[in-house]
Amino acid sequence: MKFSTTTASSLAALKTQVLAAGVFSDGTLSAAAEALDAACGGTLRRIAKADFDGAVGQSLTLHKPEGITADKVILLGLGRPDAYQASTLVRAHQALAKVCLSTNAQSAISTLCALPCPDADATQRARLIARTAMTESYQYDHTLSTRKPSRTWNTLTLHVPRAQAANTRTGLDQGAAIGKGTNFARLLGDLPANVCTPTYLGQAAKALAREFKTLKAEVLDQKKIEALKMGSFLSVAKGSAEPPAFIVLRYTPDAAAARKTKPIVLVGKGVTFDAGGISIKPAAAMDEMKYDMCGAASVLGTLRAVAELNLPREVIGIIPSCENLPSGTANKPGDVVTSLSGKTIEILNTDAEGRLILCDALTYAERFKPAVVIDMATLTGACVVALGHVNSGLFTQDDTLAAELLAAGREALDPAWRLPLEDDYQELLKSNFADTANIGGRPAGAITAACFLSRFTPLYRWAHLDIAGTAWRSGSQKGATGRPVPLLMQYLLEHLPA
Ligand code: BES
Ligand code: MN
Ligand code: ZN
Repeated sequence: MKFSTTTASSLAALKTQVLAAGVFSDGTLSAAAEALDAACGGTLRRIAKADFDGAVGQSLTLHKPEGITADKVILLGLGRPDAYQASTLVRAHQALAKVCLSTNAQSAISTLCALPCPDADATQRARLIARTAMTESYQYDHTLSTRKPSRTWNTLTLHVPRAQAANTRTGLDQGAAIGKGTNFARLLGDLPANVCTPTYLGQAAKALAREFKTLKAEVLDQKKIEALKMGSFLSVAKGSAEPPAFIVLRYTPDAAAARKTKPIVLVGKGVTFDAGGISIKPAAAMDEMKYDMCGAASVLGTLRAVAELNLPREVIGIIPSCENLPSGTANKPGDVVTSLSGKTIEILNTDAEGRLILCDALTYAERFKPAVVIDMATLTGACVVALGHVNSGLFTQDDTLAAELLAAGREALDPAWRLPLEDDYQELLKSNFADTANIGGRPAGAITAACFLSRFTPLYRWAHLDIAGTAWRSGSQKGATGRPVPLLMQYLLEHLPA
């Protein structure tokens, strides 16, 4: 899919299959719709008044209107003018994508990017538009007997004023890369656990490193993980015949100056299937535990976008990956293991395995002397209870980092909500037989999970995103969302060295 801009003076004379313009729910036409209306002698306004309520997400197709060159004009509902915001723009473009995809249109021009928006500048608007076009084209067909025909259209062109053209182009490139990275994360999430194994994730990292010369992948196998003494991670992995993988994917920018800044490290939980281990989960919806590697997928998706955009900042992805199964070799409740940090852990519940593999990855991250470490994990059902499927849970003791990540999530329409991480909760993790227990009981389950992780992050700025509620959807819409790739990319784009 290609993205471009046009600054042509006459909208009515633009040659395209689809030309999209916005109409508000009070009947107000956007400037572009006004211009088109004038060209067709008032037909557009008349039809809009009679057949269109302008609600967000609605669309109305006008075929070959008089005086307009485009094959079709598509009116996109923008809702109330005073409520117009970035999320409206995205919903309108989702509606446009549905029309283009269902009618097999190959070229579309949208005029919406020119509309000012209180919460998104021209660059951000273009980013959101390109990302939406990419993510709306996603369809899973990897394990169907007949592959679906590719579902995308050739070009999306944004009509913008000349003064906005450069920013719009920048935003389009960024949005396309973010959309691709998001779709990549979704595919990995959607793949079944018998395909997407730890080995498969390692191969995916290596394939990315082949595609982008700025990426280097290193996949540590069982022997190397043992040599490193990641006793906590290994205790989870040993319950499965599927070999674990510890993946390090390192992005080093071309520009020498950019390499002087300390790296940002992203850590992702890569449990390719979580049956709970000996503390086994109930059968209902257990299939959804194939999504327990969505943190890992978001790391790979983000690094893909980072490499595609050649960001001038070093970013390192770390993924501990294994399965969590019950078996004769599985860890047991009451087992005490020694983590890479040297701290001992009493495993009171083998289903709290995410933190057991992440703690060793967080200790491993120390060697990169990171500026910031952010981990992403489908960590707790408690976070889903607290925040549902709207916000990811954000945990950090660093107020500045919290504010930056919350802002990035808001701007990228991939929101997070901060939950507390106070020392008073740490007491719940007391163990009589080890330095720490791996669970803190039912109260504040998402918080005690974050408290556990925090014990392994004394040497750097750190934040944890619990994406258990946001990384995938259940029900008829079952599928991975690719979150929080958009949040992470927004944060990275805003934290490039000057
Ligand atoms: N992968 C799960 C968390 C999860 C549960 C994500 C439901 C999405 C939906 C995690 O490994 C887990 O099992 N957590 C336990 C922790 C508990 C044993 C302290 C949980 O949330 O029940
Ligand atoms: Mn679990
Ligand atoms: Zn899990």
